[in-house]
Amino acid sequence: MGDCGPDDPYFLGRDEAETERLNQQHRFLLAISGGELIHPSIPKETISAVADIGAGTGVWLADLATILPNTPLDLHGFDISAAQYPPDSVIVVPGKARIPLAVHDALVPYPPEHLGRYDLVHIRLLTAGLKKGDFPVVLRNARSLLKPNGYIQWEEVDTTTFCTNQEPELPAITTMRNTLIDAMLKLGLWPYAPPTVYEEICAGGFHKIYRETYTTEGKEDLRTIAPKWVAGVMRALVPSSMVVLGQAENDEDAKTQVETLIAEFEEHCKSALALASFGVTAAQRCE
Ligand SMILES: C[S@@+](CC[C@H](N)C(=O)[O-])C[C@H]1O[C@@H](n2cnc3c(N)ncnc32)[C@H](O)[C@@H]1O
Repeated sequence: MGDCGPDDPYFLGRDEAETERLNQQHRFLLAISGGELIHPSIPKETISAVADIGAGTGVWLADLATILPNTPLDLHGFDISAAQYPPDSVIVVPGKARIPLAVHDALVPYPPEHLGRYDLVHIRLLTAGLKKGDFPVVLRNARSLLKPNGYIQWEEVDTTTFCTNQEPELPAITTMRNTLIDAMLKLGLWPYAPPTVYEEICAGGFHKIYRETYTTEGKEDLRTIAPKWVAGVMRALVPSSMVVLGQAENDEDAKTQVETLIAEFEEHCKSALALASFGVTAAQRCE
């Protein structure tokens, strides 16, 4: 369960199991988006300096180092917590990059040495820690990291889209999805991130804006992995949500209730395809 509260609104945990889930999730998000770490509108050959905000375990940066054609690379991760960073807060990709990972709150201006330094700023899945009014602040600070004409790529899951391709909807799915949305709203967090990211980028000093929605719908190759991913998200988020909403007495009770719902969902997914969608907005900084 997350440590969410007034001082740390982040809604996920940061233990070993959550670290493993983030790394597995990275593979799933790549699969759903056609294997593209960088949106096709961003020319890879122009990218050598990259900042990743809310870097988590650093898994996206580590993969990125292996596909960028340029050397030397200047890759840097930032996160409000170092709890999921590898030892010494550094990732070494032999022959490609040494990636330092720093502690920094995305709502706070960055130190001068990082301003105007990066060709690309990447943000993925900050929703579990952001209120609606935080989005323009994160974007303004992210923009300050970019060189003139640098690119932003911001990716968020749409919390409201969890369902399957079968009607009528399984009540267990309705319960888990609505519990999560209600708890986020109660905590002041914002479950409708992808459209908000797009709107803020449109208003925030960017042009050449591309918006993409990736979904599991119609992707038979994701039939096995999609329910596993959804179950992982629900396991990570719904027990805390139940406690926040007073629907469970404590963590243990909440986890037991969620395991029952997940078992029903997994049974249902023996014939149904789990649906989820993932929104990406990519754009170029303009003055
Ligand atoms: C769901 S994880 C995603 C990690 C990574 N971006 C990925 O896609 O694998 C969200 C991360 O955002 C970080 N985070 C939450 N609020 C933040 C803030 N205000 N500033 C910087 N990082 C934050 C959390 O600590 C966590 O590591």
